Amino acid sequence: MPHEALLEWYVEMGADEAISAAETNWFAASEAAAPAPVSRAESAPVSAPPAAHARAQVSGAPAQAGPRAQTSGAEPATDKAASALAAAAQSLDELRAALESLEGFPLKVTATNLVFGEGVETPDVMFIGEAPGADEDRQGRPFVGASGRLLDRMMASIGLDRAENAYITNILPWRPPGNREPTAAEIAICLPFIRRHIALVRPRIIVPVGGTAAKTLLDQRQGIMRLRGRRFEFSDPGLEQPLPAVPLFHPAFLLRSAGQKALAWRDLLTIRQIIQ
Ligand code: URA
Repeated sequence: MPHEALLEWYVEMGADEAISAAETNWFAASEAAAPAPVSRAESAPVSAPPAAHARAQVSGAPAQAGPRAQTSGAEPATDKAASALAAAAQSLDELRAALESLEGFPLKVTATNLVFGEGVETPDVMFIGEAPGADEDRQGRPFVGASGRLLDRMMASIGLDRAENAYITNILPWRPPGNREPTAAEIAICLPFIRRHIALVRPRIIVPVGGTAAKTLLDQRQGIMRLRGRRFEFSDPGLEQPLPAVPLFHPAFLLRSAGQKALAWRDLLTIRQIIQ
């Protein structure tokens, strides 16, 4: 297959980011490793064989298995370490620095940029999506691709603008490779940071955008079809009082299912009513 066609095929399969500057010939690596028979004792597992790395790279599988992640050398991040780092942040700048200092989190290695958030402090509404996509990862800004443009229009329809009275961020500040869904472990590490983010931004209302954000922030098991448009309360020790929370369909879903836009419009009116 010519190189261009192979690259196009990779992108279609979701492997749309290079995670190493240098090309690796995994066939050569496995051929070199194959002929040397070793005893059981000698073959005690130290690290995964190169062939396993090759599979993880092409399929967009969890970054933990990728070669770059393995070279970071740090102990895996724990929920406890993440909570301590997040709790110590007294400002948004400190929270960003805390995220930058988090060690042992493989998504940091595969992502191009930290996508922290943008908008005004003490906004009317804080929108919280799932995780950055490819455009966001490249630019280091949340919701700037096709779904971001739709979200901007949805916000504008009820008088909201990220430059004036809204704030936008995500549960995960780093892009999962190939836009795969974040794992429960990744969400657990990022949760203390997004909770602190909300407490520091001090919005009047939060709007989880899409099922992952809604379930994570509101501790619910139901999907977005059942959660959207309902008024919940979001509590956190860092907040003086609980905040209203109204989940909204993800704009990426609305781009695929235009028939659901009427429901989204209804939910936007609920949000407008609360901020008025
Ligand atoms: N989808 C999200 O959930 N967040 C973004 O920032 C972009 C797309």
